[in-house]
Amino acid sequence: MERPKARLKIALVGCGAMGSALLKGWLSLDHFETFWVIAPHKESVDPFLEDPRVHWLASPQDLPQTPDALIFAVKPFLLEAILPLYQSLKTLIISVAAGKPLSFYETYFPESSIIRVMPNLSVSLHQGVLGLLANKQMTSSQKAKVDDCFQNLGFSLWVNSDEDIDKLTAISGSGPAYVFYLIESLAEAAEVLGFEEKTATSLALQTFLGASLTAQASEFSPTILRQHVTSAKGTTAAALEVLEEGQLKNLMAAAVVAAFERTKELRE
Ligand SMILES: NC(=O)c1ccc[n+]([C@@H]2O[C@H](COP(=O)([O-])OP(=O)(O)OC[C@H]3O[C@@H](n4cnc5c(N)ncnc54)[C@H](OP(=O)(O)O)[C@@H]3O)[C@@H](O)[C@H]2O)c1
Repeated sequence: MERPKARLKIALVGCGAMGSALLKGWLSLDHFETFWVIAPHKESVDPFLEDPRVHWLASPQDLPQTPDALIFAVKPFLLEAILPLYQSLKTLIISVAAGKPLSFYETYFPESSIIRVMPNLSVSLHQGVLGLLANKQMTSSQKAKVDDCFQNLGFSLWVNSDEDIDKLTAISGSGPAYVFYLIESLAEAAEVLGFEEKTATSLALQTFLGASLTAQASEFSPTILRQHVTSAKGTTAAALEVLEEGQLKNLMAAAVVAAFERTKELRE
């Protein structure tokens, strides 16, 4: 029998690109009772205030009660200034910030269960990729709460180390930007062939969407699928030869390594 969903009360700290992507994803689910969104400027929360579950708070002192989970979605460099303001709250601590390891949060919340989550922007459409890591304090009922919060937002994966979270940051956390860049590149190529900008963007977008859905639905790997659509000496083969000469795979690998190295710098 399916476990009944808890009606969770969440405090979300920060409502920028990632905070609002999470909130958008959560608001279309029914197992949240309240979101207290703590943000310096009300404008970032305005788009969500029509939903009666969402409340804007200017400061943690305005929280009417202890939330079931406190979720930090602010830039990593701000955490040192922000975390001390929340130290008195005894609740589940969750952070989506890149780079900072669990031990960093444990210095502020030594008794608490702490979860690092590495989501990506597609959580807003429940198509995200999410890596999750917990410290030793996490209980099974807290794990159930965390799963309630994040499992429905896409493909989620519990990992065992901060390094695994940093690797996911480089692949799927930053990944949507790599894909946007590829879409942008194909759209610009379509413009070079003479399509107007809007049509060029639609052609590129639908090509990526259709190919992703096809690959997801297929029993074959992307490599086999690519081989299937590439006949010898055909048009696709001509294009792929150019991509191989330009070493696209090496470039992608170097890009991911650069992102991974950057997460190490964010640790400090
Ligand atoms: N963006 C992504 O794709 C992505 C992916 C994975 C993880 N992350 C992580 O998500 C976190 C947020 O990134 P982001 O891209 O969402 O950055 P962002 O767009 O700059 O959002 C950060 C938000 O934090 C707010 N903020 C600043 N000071 C605050 C305070 N004292 N209390 C509460 N809110 C405060 C900012 O408000 P104002 O702008 O009004 O000052 C801003 O809206 C980062 O740690 C990042 O590593 C992001």
